Amino acid sequence: ALVSSPEQVRFPSPSKKKKKNHLVPSLIGNARFTSSKIPLFKEDSVSMSRPFGLKDYRKIYERSIEDPAGFWSEIASQFYWKEKWDLEVYSENIDVRKGSIKFEWFKGASTNISYNTLDRNIEAGNGGKVAIYWEGNEPDDDGQLTYLELLERVCQLANYLKHVGVRKGDAVIIYLPMLMELPIAMLACARIGAVHSVVFAGFSSESLSQRIIDCKPKLVITCNAVKRGSKAIHLKDIVDSALRESAKNGVTVDLCLTVENKSAMKRGDTKWKEGRDIWWQDVVPHFPTKCDVEWVDAEDPLFLLYTSGSTGKPKGVLHTTGGYMVYTATTFKYAFDYKPSDIYWCTADCGWITGHSYITYGPLLNGATVVAPNYPDCGRCWDIVDKYKVTIFYTAPTLVRSLMREGDEYVTRHDRKSIRVLASVGEPINPSAWRWFYNVVGNSRCPISDTWWQTETGGLMITPLPGAWPQKPGSATFPFFGVQPVIVDEKGNEIEGECSGYLCIKKSWPGAFRTLYGDHERYQTTYFKPFAGYYFTGDGCSRDKDGYFWLTGRVDDVINVSGHRIGTVEVESALVSHPQCAEAAVVGIEHEIKGQGIYAFVTLVEGVPFSEEIRKSLILSVRNQIGAFAAPDKIHWAPALPKTRSGKIMRRILRKIASRQLDELGDTSTLADPSVVDQLIALADF
Ligand code: WTA
Repeated sequence: ALVSSPEQVRFPSPSKKKKKNHLVPSLIGNARFTSSKIPLFKEDSVSMSRPFGLKDYRKIYERSIEDPAGFWSEIASQFYWKEKWDLEVYSENIDVRKGSIKFEWFKGASTNISYNTLDRNIEAGNGGKVAIYWEGNEPDDDGQLTYLELLERVCQLANYLKHVGVRKGDAVIIYLPMLMELPIAMLACARIGAVHSVVFAGFSSESLSQRIIDCKPKLVITCNAVKRGSKAIHLKDIVDSALRESAKNGVTVDLCLTVENKSAMKRGDTKWKEGRDIWWQDVVPHFPTKCDVEWVDAEDPLFLLYTSGSTGKPKGVLHTTGGYMVYTATTFKYAFDYKPSDIYWCTADCGWITGHSYITYGPLLNGATVVAPNYPDCGRCWDIVDKYKVTIFYTAPTLVRSLMREGDEYVTRHDRKSIRVLASVGEPINPSAWRWFYNVVGNSRCPISDTWWQTETGGLMITPLPGAWPQKPGSATFPFFGVQPVIVDEKGNEIEGECSGYLCIKKSWPGAFRTLYGDHERYQTTYFKPFAGYYFTGDGCSRDKDGYFWLTGRVDDVINVSGHRIGTVEVESALVSHPQCAEAAVVGIEHEIKGQGIYAFVTLVEGVPFSEEIRKSLILSVRNQIGAFAAPDKIHWAPALPKTRSGKIMRRILRKIASRQLDELGDTSTLADPSVVDQLIALADF
């Protein structure tokens, strides 16, 4: 029985009266999975006549676990495949003890995700439907593209890319802010079988060059500058210096296709390297608006996306085509209860996985209309919701918390009646933010899909289906179809019932990443060796008596700042690259808005006194090496760090000091020099 918890929120039963405005379905909070053009399940029929509930979910879920091949191939057959897959729908080895890790879905089939996103929807009669509404930096700076227009622009760029010699399997780095050209570039690469690697435009030139050196792209696509608020960021300068750095490391890129972003910077002011730099506007529009697709194997790579791990070097997470396509489209449809009349807004940036799976691919595969703002200023949030009559609003807890701090008035003075589903991603959503999101933003009538997933998983893994079962604020509830999460103890034994431990996944799923680019060994070591027989997520998790999953945050050296994944080691290496920094240890601390903040202990080179200037230049060093979003919130001067006799830094103690839990320091007697701890506490300015 799923009742009795005071934390639970039940959704009202669907009203019988049909409302006229189709943007506000009468079934608020109690989804019926009926009206899609693509009937995904035979079981859809079970929910035709009554709301979709826990029983229906369980039935479908059980089938998805018992017969993954039948289940997923039935869904997959709704897409266009040039050729069908081999007899085996999938094959997997998730157990390192049995050899190399391998996940394959729909192997042998050929398809194209750009075709399925654009051509397929246009053939179904959706050519005139708006695919993307775009909002610029200024409220009156907006635009839109229909499916047909999007296809034409994608084809022009695809033709250009072919013209300059980009072939199937070549990597293309895209370093763009949220301009229309970003999803266009992703889809153009996919159309010709090139592998895109989008680098979030907040990353520094160091980080960008690291990624260029790793994947050796045929070209880089960028823009001259972007405005953030009143400030213009010169992205092209950042690319220039990244390309200089890559060249020093033996990786030269001959072509830099640059979008002229007029609202931020004029052509004439842009630094230019003749022969290498080309203005997008000068070449791309001259190419034909039709471009044949390159049919690729379902297991051919679609994209690389670099993400942070527990070591310094970012990991190139590789996703392939077929399984990712099927998985993102299906999760989108179900977890957001998508209907063709919906207007969907996800506040993420295409530079992160959320923007890949739930701006570009998942929604557009479903023929949805997406709102994509360039500058999601909090104050403008509800203006945009009302302007476009947004029905599904997907955001991150950090945004919810920062809006919450501004007060209800900013929200309540807007209409917001169009919204029917709210959703959250990126970090655990604390119950008070959840309640505010539910009560104030959603007027206590919209279910919240708290979606847990990762760059590696491709699509969401644990999530409510809107209105299908009672929610508990802060719980991502139950696994999506086909996903088998388990909780294991330190030794890797599965634990049942009410418990807490490490979150692992037991079987492969179509959206799973297939390797780390160029380093299958690291893939196996990081994810499949810690608990043999499982994919290890790096997250802690508990399950309550009703079987609800509660994600409790990372258990490794990864911190999650405003939903951005940052490795502590990355920040540490940026700090120690500062000439006056001898050693650094970074830990995450609780942060009211960002979820987690970055707290850095630094030891300076012998004889250098700690000062405000040093503090600033250390922070600058991190901004330059990673990006502004990774700047430490706190620099704590540490004449020495607490180490064991074997020289290992005791982070446990540092975490306690950083979070001011001084009475919980625990045993410090194993330290080489226990007096270091008192010294650190004395130097803290709490
Ligand atoms: C965290 C983002 C709790 C988690 C899609 C995971 C969450 C990491 C949630 C992945 C959620 C994401 N509840 N924690 N709903 N969603 N996380 O790769 O720690 O940027 O491991 O993918 O974010 O971050 P990534």
